[in-house]
Amino acid sequence: MIAGFGAAPLAVADTVPTGDRVRAMVLDELGAYLSTDSGALSALHSHALRPAGKLLRPLLVVQSALAVGGSAHPVLPAALGLELLHVGSLVHDDIIDGDTERRGRPAVHQRFGTDRAIVGADALFVQPFALLAACRQRGVPDERIVAATQLLAEAGRQLCQGAMLELDQAGTFPTTPDEYFRMAGLKTSPLLSGACRIGATLAGASPASTAALGRYGHALGLAFQARDDLLPYDTPHEAAGKPADSDLANQRPTLPVLLAHRLADARDRRLLERLLAEGARGSDTRARTDAVLRRTGAFDAAHALIEEQVHECGRALSELAPGPAVTALATLAEGLRDRPVPPTTAPLR
Ligand code: IPE
Ligand code: IPE
Ligand code: MG
Repeated sequence: MIAGFGAAPLAVADTVPTGDRVRAMVLDELGAYLSTDSGALSALHSHALRPAGKLLRPLLVVQSALAVGGSAHPVLPAALGLELLHVGSLVHDDIIDGDTERRGRPAVHQRFGTDRAIVGADALFVQPFALLAACRQRGVPDERIVAATQLLAEAGRQLCQGAMLELDQAGTFPTTPDEYFRMAGLKTSPLLSGACRIGATLAGASPASTAALGRYGHALGLAFQARDDLLPYDTPHEAAGKPADSDLANQRPTLPVLLAHRLADARDRRLLERLLAEGARGSDTRARTDAVLRRTGAFDAAHALIEEQVHECGRALSELAPGPAVTALATLAEGLRDRPVPPTTAPLR
């Protein structure tokens, strides 16, 4: 029997892989998967999946399994499944947002055309269920796979609800932080929370530990989406690997923009409303928005809200037994405090 499952002894600390090793294991699983994906979808999937992104969701599956005393190997197919589902959602997202670049290369629809991108992503949405089932061959008991299947389907359904809510919110301004976090809690958190709960469930965690990891993933998702909203303003384009003007072009009331609107004087408020209503592509609209965000203190306000969620992550993790995987999860959350380029305090009119 595989360590960490059934009646077998739990993995002991000195066999727990390091964060780098976990990443390498996920990449190996992805490489092995792509090498067997030889049909009409393979070129598109290869382009979409490799080189990989940050692999946040698969890392959460594995680290959550490790955090509750499980092992990495049995949950790796499920971890890969979460990445496939995520990448499928990005392919559709780029079509919806009209974005031509992802991970520093042409978006899938840009390279293969929209029709093929839609179909290729559809396959990425169903394959995770087969990958979850494949955990059985690695010794995961059936009842855990059934429970994880339910979690996966629920995460996918919520993601779609969140994407729908985001479309409903487009162009609606002002939006409140609560409305924003409700959207991000559906669009972004479910895959992160779901990844944590799936990893824990497959590893046979107690309901209390699974729930704590779910709360961690939910808060992580809110902080992660908020941090993603700041990328156009504080991260070089080549590091982000995606268009910096997407949110404005799509009239998204992102967190820094809606915070600036609340903090601004009447003149800046009107300016922001005009900029968002224009929905223009290009660096000029972004630069003018950036100037308002800087002089209203919106960046500090956004970081304060991110900090609250990072704190929530820590609170949830404190319910688990300390260990290297819990530390790795805490480090992931703390990384969202990162402020690559400190906002200038100089007023830019
Ligand atoms: C991008 O997700 C979409 C959001 C939820 C903001 P990631 O930032 O995790 O994308 P990759 O997988 O690293 O490319
Ligand atoms: C990505 O959302 C899609 C999902 C989270 C489902 P965004 O549009 O905010 O992310 P990027 O900026 O394109 O990566
Ligand atoms: Mg997008």
